[in-house]
Amino acid sequence: MSGLANGTSSLASELREARINFRLDEPLSRYTTMGLGGPADLLARPTTVADMGKVLGLAREADLPVRVIGAGSNLLIDDAGVRGVVMATAALEEIDFPGDGIVEAGAGVNFPALVRQTAARGLRGLEPGVGIPGSLGGILTMNAGAYQFSIGPLVREVEAVSSERADTRSVLLHGREIDFRYRASSFGANLIVARARLSLTPDDPVAIKRDMNEHMRFRKETQPVGVKSAGCIFKNPAGDSAGRLIDGARLKGFSVGGARVSEVHANFIVHEGRARTKDVLALIEAVREKVLKETSILLETEVMAWSP
Ligand code: EPU
Repeated sequence: MSGLANGTSSLASELREARINFRLDEPLSRYTTMGLGGPADLLARPTTVADMGKVLGLAREADLPVRVIGAGSNLLIDDAGVRGVVMATAALEEIDFPGDGIVEAGAGVNFPALVRQTAARGLRGLEPGVGIPGSLGGILTMNAGAYQFSIGPLVREVEAVSSERADTRSVLLHGREIDFRYRASSFGANLIVARARLSLTPDDPVAIKRDMNEHMRFRKETQPVGVKSAGCIFKNPAGDSAGRLIDGARLKGFSVGGARVSEVHANFIVHEGRARTKDVLALIEAVREKVLKETSILLETEVMAWSP
């Protein structure tokens, strides 16, 4: 285990004792939609909210930083990987329907799968978000959206764990206590989504499914689907679209190494199978520079970048 951060092996023993699943020196390319990223010293895979709290508490005692990974759909991880702990939420995958239009789901639930399940149950509300790649925890943290869809108004309650408090028990936040902003929310490194209750509207499953399919069809026309990407790379500047600006700078198809600006939507970068994260980062900088030169607008990234 040489090369791993100090404290990693003692944390590994504690996790073993607590029966929390983990892996050492785990390649993170397996956990990102870009299919890129070097290894984490330790990747922990808690299956319950209580175990999420335990991972945070034990990592804190070992003085190791913790980062959280859901579906890895908005993430660029350095080729050298990251030191310390990465906590994967994927095993928090339970979905319950307690009645009254409520769906309760774990942070690791795949969002498009949640949309399909709620639609099949005759619960309306999530269908415009069907094509948004990500875990439920990631969607809430990033306040991801598409077209008229925004998750904030549907949130009844969120159970979260805090990496800051010594008490590792979860806290319950009411929807109205949560701040949802453009591609940001109250959640993040210090307050981590563990489970959420969404309030949906009962309706005819056939009608919901029809609308869901229509949203998916439109998305496939306007965005690259089924390729390795991290969604939109840049935030939209006020009153404009980053995709329109990048397209206007004639950058569609422009590439560095195996990373290319999508021909379908210019705010997406596609990994063509032989890229490294460094190619994507270099392409981002080249795009930013060209758009700045042509429009005087400095684009800000929306994707999160992890460096060692
Ligand atoms: N456009 C171009 N060329 C392009 C892309 C877009 O000319 O390559 C034009 C379009 O024709 C349209 C305008 O730019 O007139 C806006 O494009 P679009 O409707 O595709 O929306 P967007 O502003 O580029 C935003 C979100 C997307 C979300 C879509 C649909 C951001 C950064 N992007 O894109 O979210 O799916 O609206 O609601 O907020 C994401 O956050 O990862 C993401 C993809």
